[in-house]
Amino acid sequence: MDHLVSTSLLAADLNNLEKEVLMINRSKSDWLHLDIMDGVFVPNISFGFPVIEHVKKITEKPLDVHLMIVDPDRYISRFCDAGAGILTVQYEACIHLQRTVTEIRALGMKAGVALNPHTPVSLLKNIIPYIDMVLIMTVNPGFGGQSFIIESYNKIRELRKMIDAAGYNVFVEVDGGIDTTNSAKLIDTGVDVLVAGSSVFGSDDPAETIRRLKDLD
Ligand code: DX5
Ligand code: ZN
Repeated sequence: MDHLVSTSLLAADLNNLEKEVLMINRSKSDWLHLDIMDGVFVPNISFGFPVIEHVKKITEKPLDVHLMIVDPDRYISRFCDAGAGILTVQYEACIHLQRTVTEIRALGMKAGVALNPHTPVSLLKNIIPYIDMVLIMTVNPGFGGQSFIIESYNKIRELRKMIDAAGYNVFVEVDGGIDTTNSAKLIDTGVDVLVAGSSVFGSDDPAETIRRLKDLD
């Protein structure tokens, strides 16, 4: 399968939200990644439902919604109504994870589970049959613009092996510090979806950077 690129709006110019979303529409980005932070699970607060609903009206790309919030069960149906296509919860925030991902799928969304850098891949063994994607956090969640954690390559290798051995069709997504210098190696290591924020919006030509992440050149 060709890998996907999910452009993270966190680093976009929110004064020009519409322009940024239209740029993503015209680009080779496959998905649009939205980071939802509650100031409790992570030491930062990002955007909520009004922003998601606004983006949904403009975007032509599936919304890849990454919840960095405690107790995400409370909001699953609201994120569905707001337009999420893929809804990812943090492993560390869920007590009854199987119930959570089953509910996400029952509403017609794809279900993802994100792992913080310190959380071992082996903990996912019994949830793989119930999910569509694993998001390996390659930085500690909460902020854009951080440096990629090198140990992530070992986690990706281990996860890819686990998914392939189990025989399920589960995407591997990476998020944090992704740019054109590490994208090809990440895909070689077994990644399906690259999330990129700062490297896209911090570049002179964001659409061209997305194209390079997609074409790996
Ligand atoms: C970090 C977020 C990321 C963030 C990545 O907590 O989950 O999605 O936007 O940003 P960059 O690409 O700047 O590392
Ligand atoms: Zn994210």
